[in-house]
Amino acid sequence: MTLLIKNGTIVNADGSQKADVLIRHGKIVGIEKNVKSEIPPDKIIDASNCYIIPGGIDPHVHMHLPSPAGFSSDDFGSGSRAAIFGGTTTFIDFVTPKKGQTLSEAIKHRKSEAANCLANYSFHVSPVEWRDSMEDEIRDCVSNEGFRTFKVYMAYKDSIGLNDEVLLKVMKAVSKAGGMVTVHCEMGDEIEVLREKFAGENLLSPKYHPLSRPAEAEAKAVEKAIALAKTADCPLYIVHVSAGESLKHIRQAQKNGQQVFAETCPQYLLLDDSKYDGAFDQTAPFVMSPPLRKKSDNLALWRALGDGGLQTVGTDHCPFTLAQKRFGENDFRKIPNGAGGVEHRMALLFTYGVLEGKISLEQFVALTSTNAAKIFGFYPAKGLIAPGADADIVIWNPEKEGTISAKTHHQNCDISIFEGVKTKGAPELVIKTGIIVLEK
Ligand code: URP
Ligand code: ZN
Repeated sequence: MTLLIKNGTIVNADGSQKADVLIRHGKIVGIEKNVKSEIPPDKIIDASNCYIIPGGIDPHVHMHLPSPAGFSSDDFGSGSRAAIFGGTTTFIDFVTPKKGQTLSEAIKHRKSEAANCLANYSFHVSPVEWRDSMEDEIRDCVSNEGFRTFKVYMAYKDSIGLNDEVLLKVMKAVSKAGGMVTVHCEMGDEIEVLREKFAGENLLSPKYHPLSRPAEAEAKAVEKAIALAKTADCPLYIVHVSAGESLKHIRQAQKNGQQVFAETCPQYLLLDDSKYDGAFDQTAPFVMSPPLRKKSDNLALWRALGDGGLQTVGTDHCPFTLAQKRFGENDFRKIPNGAGGVEHRMALLFTYGVLEGKISLEQFVALTSTNAAKIFGFYPAKGLIAPGADADIVIWNPEKEGTISAKTHHQNCDISIFEGVKTKGAPELVIKTGIIVLEK
């Protein structure tokens, strides 16, 4: 299959140019003005008035995540379809083994769950305990399975969370194997004390979810994870930063030359904790960890996207239906944590970042694909429009307007935390490894 894209503006993280893009056998083979194809293209795509950008890479999604309220409502099929509708052609999900299960057994099982995935995908692998073989299992993941990032949780201590001693062991093993640790930073024990306190006082509505997970509990965990990673000499990636206070530790570590990368998500940029005021059905959709913060945190995170303190925007896509959220109707601790967003990451960042002058067009590309490709080892095959790169391409129409709604989105969920939010900018056409997977 040969495709020729004409009349558009190519936008990469390091600059923009007007040129044609020639695609053959899944790869970009030529970029120049009036590029010549030896064989006639199967299709000529007119990208007039549009940007030609790398397919989005969402470094943080949870498809088909098990919870006591059932699996998160998007599986790999429906979630990847929604991702593509939003211009994301690659995402990174997670392998979370059961206790006692080896990492390689868990990877095999997770791959079978991802068999219907329509997007490119990879995994972060989660050691949820320590055992004698763990160092070898981690090395095997990197050397033989091709997965080099390991996600650990400082929260959820009663299930998948790790204590500091195990966290350090994992970081040392990952460092030795040449990988990177990604961390969910929230002080698990302190949060547990607050949750128990509120429950003891019969304060069980959704608004006690954020009150039991304060910003300081995140910032303190960020500081600790950075210190442990320094001791272990392990590259560190901090997921879903929500609190402005966390940024000072991240910036300081980066200034000191430590390999520390950090991600935020659209919900932490655009929504705030006023969403927890109201009745259960209105507030439970916003129960996620970490929770929504203050408007001042939104602003601090935007600033960090603009000045390079944060490197990526993921979604932590983990939707649950209203019926599933109602599992915690009488106790916020039972509300399944998470919300959907994989479909709207790029449109939200374009609308409220680029169009409001908070980030440039090139930064938009860096934050939605290039930086993740570099951090997670996909670059220059992904995250770049250049000869030799994979033809994962979005024709982005900057004028297309929309309003997000659960009634019209493609995520498999009857609620959306962005219900009613207006967007400007959307994919007109999406190509995944040389194949058109969306055409509007
Ligand atoms: O609330 C969230 N974020 N749910 C998904 C699991 C996690 O903690 O990342
Ligand atoms: Zn997550």
